[in-house]
Amino acid sequence: MTETDVTADQAADRALKARHRTMWGLGDYPDVAARLIAELGPVLVGAAGVRPGERVLDVAAGTGNVAVPAARAGADVTASDLTPELFVAGREAAAARGVTIRWEEGDAEALPYADDTFDVTLSCVGVMFAPHHQQAADELVRVTRPGGRIGLISWTPEGFVGELFAAMKPFVPPPPPGAMPPPRWGDEAHVRALLGDRVTDVVTEKRTVTVSAFDTPEAFRAYWRETYGPTIVAYRTVADDPARTAELDAALEGLAARYGGTTGVMSWEYLLLTARVV
Ligand SMILES: C[S@@+](CC[C@H](N)C(=O)[O-])C[C@H]1O[C@@H](n2cnc3c(N)ncnc32)[C@H](O)[C@@H]1O
Repeated sequence: MTETDVTADQAADRALKARHRTMWGLGDYPDVAARLIAELGPVLVGAAGVRPGERVLDVAAGTGNVAVPAARAGADVTASDLTPELFVAGREAAAARGVTIRWEEGDAEALPYADDTFDVTLSCVGVMFAPHHQQAADELVRVTRPGGRIGLISWTPEGFVGELFAAMKPFVPPPPPGAMPPPRWGDEAHVRALLGDRVTDVVTEKRTVTVSAFDTPEAFRAYWRETYGPTIVAYRTVADDPARTAELDAALEGLAARYGGTTGVMSWEYLLLTARVV
């Protein structure tokens, strides 16, 4: 690989990350986190056994869904994310709960921390959105001290959010070469392979979060279309094509109808994984 190639790769990666940052800043992700998946943060903090005084990193922290309960458990917490725009809501949430957190911009594929900095490294439906899975997994291991823990919550490919991304795929531009689909982090074999023999005591469990915020499939589609960055991007991609837009509406409503049935109450499956760094 020549120097020119490296520079071109780096430039392409910077452009990709800039698009991702813009995407996650669209809509109202803080509302999604607070309204739909707030319970996942305490689940991950509990599963990882976070103790007072431990140095904890929340990777792809967003508004601190994990960072805030980790700080409430007495840990010394750093929240890192590609999209610092989300820290505004995170700081408010932390202040409302009386905890202090360090909020630091960072790419999960190149974390700005020295080796072995943290006792516990956590990520709730976060690191899964970094496109280069092996690089991101390597970083989780690198910044966690030997004997420290890694804890992850990831949407499964066969669960609701995995299906949502599959449903949106035909409506968005293809990912660049080397970028992997986020829900693969919900495949236990994939994550075990990513972490390899650098971890031990791997414990996994598939669980679900119950989402009852949407009475009808149309209500789900309307909220998601306005609020969730990746879906907003999909709608923008087909904005000039009313037929494709209608197809996207139908895809989202069909998915919500299938999961919500007559009640609108949905179960969204995720993989909970904890491991100890060797
Ligand atoms: C679905 S949100 C999850 C946020 C939070 N962990 C939660 O539980 O609500 C995904 C997060 O991943 C972040 N993200 C995406 N790509 C990233 C990357 N390469 N490095 C760090 N964060 C990234 C986004 O900015 C966003 O905050």
